[in-house]
Amino acid sequence: MLPRVILHNAVSLDGKIDGFPVDLYQYYELVATWKEDATLAGSDTFLKAASEAPPEDESALLPPKIDPNDRRPLLAVPDSRGWIRTWHYLRSLPYWRGFVALCSQSTPQEYLHYLKERHIDCIIAGEDHVDLRAALQEMNCRYDAKVVRVDAGGTLNGLLLRQGLVAEVSLLIYPSLVGGEKQRGIFVAPDLPVADLPESQKKVISLKLIQMEQLKGEVVWLRYEVLSTTGH
Ligand SMILES: NC(=O)c1ccc[n+]([C@@H]2O[C@H](COP(=O)([O-])OP(=O)(O)OC[C@H]3O[C@@H](n4cnc5c(N)ncnc54)[C@H](OP(=O)(O)O)[C@@H]3O)[C@@H](O)[C@H]2O)c1
Repeated sequence: MLPRVILHNAVSLDGKIDGFPVDLYQYYELVATWKEDATLAGSDTFLKAASEAPPEDESALLPPKIDPNDRRPLLAVPDSRGWIRTWHYLRSLPYWRGFVALCSQSTPQEYLHYLKERHIDCIIAGEDHVDLRAALQEMNCRYDAKVVRVDAGGTLNGLLLRQGLVAEVSLLIYPSLVGGEKQRGIFVAPDLPVADLPESQKKVISLKLIQMEQLKGEVVWLRYEVLSTTGH
């Protein structure tokens, strides 16, 4: 079974995902809304933050203590290239109870060995990049993950949206206009063909507004249910 997948993003009024100040306390306070079983985050965020991680010591190789009453979510990160080497640091943060690297058949064996030595779980799904549908199904099956919140940029969001895997989109709209040509939006995916407009429009994702609230800092919180999806 597929978990219920929720995208939660802070965006500028022009739909950009970066380049404006975000109240992270407010952003993460709202996360409790969904009682997520797992957070699905893109690897780029952790790669950007890698310089914050202290060097690893021998404690990274010890098996983690497992508390069956721990209600914190799991952290799952697609990383088919095997780039994330800061699991010891992520483990030291108070946000997650466990970790799973989402890999594929193309992930270097050396990286799979690195994960095993550090007791980091791994799901192998897909040939080149991670097959996100299969990985989500496995998260449901292996960890009973019923609700997965996505904390990602436009690429991972775009893949999940186009594959019909998203049930809800939650946006914190900031009173900021970022502009620019390089700043990315919340939904990055190949253009729909313009030659056949009626056919393209069938692929546009329809939403139903389920909540609208003004928050501190003139931030507007909008929650939408995804109507047209092939995932559910
Ligand atoms: N404003 C907000 O709410 C918000 C929230 C989160 C992040 N961000 C920002 O967004 C930016 C990037 O976010 P991000 O780290 O989540 O990265 P992202 O650029 O959205 O996505 C990268 C992730 O997508 C996976 N991926 C790429 N192509 C794939 C494919 N064909 N099939 C399956 N998976 C694929 C990558 O895994 P592989 O390496 O395996 O390809 C990687 O884990 C950062 O600058 C961050 O600051 C903003």
